[in-house]
Amino acid sequence: MTDLQTRTTPGLDLAPIDLAAFPPNFAWGASTAAYQIEGAVSADGRTPSIWDTFSHLPGRVRDGDTGDIAADHYHRWEEDLDLVQQLGLPTYRFSLSWSRVQPTGRGPANQRGLDFYRRLVDGMLERGITPWLTLYHWDLPQELEDAGGWPARETAQRFADYAGLVVDALGDRVDDWTTLNEPWCSAFLGYGNGRHAPGRQDPAASLGAAHHLLLGHGLATQALRARGAERIGVTLNLYAVTPESERPGDREAARRVDGLHNRWFLDPLFRGSYPDDVRTDVGDLFSAEQPGDAHIIATPIDLLGVNYYTRLVTTATAYPGSATVGFGDLGLPRTSMGWEVDGSGLTEVLGRVGRDYTQIPLYVTENGAAFEDRVGPDGTVHDAARTEYIADHIAACAAARRDGVNLQGYFVWSLLDNFEWGQGYAKRFGLVYVDYGTQERIVKTSGRWFADLIRRHRGGLL
Ligand code: FCB
Repeated sequence: MTDLQTRTTPGLDLAPIDLAAFPPNFAWGASTAAYQIEGAVSADGRTPSIWDTFSHLPGRVRDGDTGDIAADHYHRWEEDLDLVQQLGLPTYRFSLSWSRVQPTGRGPANQRGLDFYRRLVDGMLERGITPWLTLYHWDLPQELEDAGGWPARETAQRFADYAGLVVDALGDRVDDWTTLNEPWCSAFLGYGNGRHAPGRQDPAASLGAAHHLLLGHGLATQALRARGAERIGVTLNLYAVTPESERPGDREAARRVDGLHNRWFLDPLFRGSYPDDVRTDVGDLFSAEQPGDAHIIATPIDLLGVNYYTRLVTTATAYPGSATVGFGDLGLPRTSMGWEVDGSGLTEVLGRVGRDYTQIPLYVTENGAAFEDRVGPDGTVHDAARTEYIADHIAACAAARRDGVNLQGYFVWSLLDNFEWGQGYAKRFGLVYVDYGTQERIVKTSGRWFADLIRRHRGGLL
């Protein structure tokens, strides 16, 4: 059961993995998100989301790429679910496009939009795949952005209403419900530095957005619970944060980065209040909270999704005492996103959440890497570096479990190559290669390896 590499993949430098560390029902899977794969942006009553608008603005997305066609999953979903089944993935994490389900962001559901997701979920169930549904992966209906977007309190209630529509339609088929994916990104990339949709640069608005995302999560959790949803959670992007040196400025930068990336979300969800030190850092910029909000945000949930890609190494800037921080590195190899490969950070993050915040089940809902993939002359994609990355991080999960962390699943980002937000199609994360010209899918070496690992795990435990 140990030392998979020598048994299955000669020639790859893979971390030994103790598969016995994972329980028999451990949820292995892969993840995608609606805007990144679906395409068909005006099919069946769908209206634009903030990502449609943003990606069509000149200069916002690399090479002018948009999600108009993406991996054409809207038309190829059966083939894609066949792939999930062939890979033997027990679980598939996907998200819904709010603009398909409720095109204006308010009012009644669009039946044709819901029908698509009903077919998709039924397709999973027919293939023996457990659906892991995310309600919101960054694609706010444009009409709601026009009405103020996440910085407007009203949007939180709109989100809860939308959650209610979806659970009414799919609650009999789906057990695992995730409210939000990575609210940090929605708030701070969307409204802070403007690198993501809707592309606003307004610090106060970004803090308001973060608060209303959390409030929306709490309200949606209550709406889902009231309608009998089985298991409810939220997915956060959490980081191991390390100062580049012991210099006070680097350490102060680490406190700030940990504060805004990790604790600004974990504390209100699991401790019922925002961290005092970060409140002091942000001062008057944060004014969105109203009495009673903390209680709603801390509505109990059943599981936490953790997305992990890299460690953040912090440095002070040239301006001592300023709020600005910089990022350094540990000199480790990097992926083509420029992110350092550091599996130990995943063990650290999972351990910290389990120790300091909650004993509810944790799931790594995203982990993976972009590298420059090439289709070889034999028609295969041999992505050794990605395979090594994934093996490293699964070994890190095994270490966390041996430390007593209640980790119950691990999902690779991503099933398919797809629209990587501001990087467009330039960055490939898939276990499956997509030829965007022909929409042909080719399972990469990493996909075969991951499938083999799951088979061995399941087989070994029979
Ligand atoms: C995460 C996103 C996901 C994907 C990966 C690379 O932050 O949730 O959609 O873009 O990064």
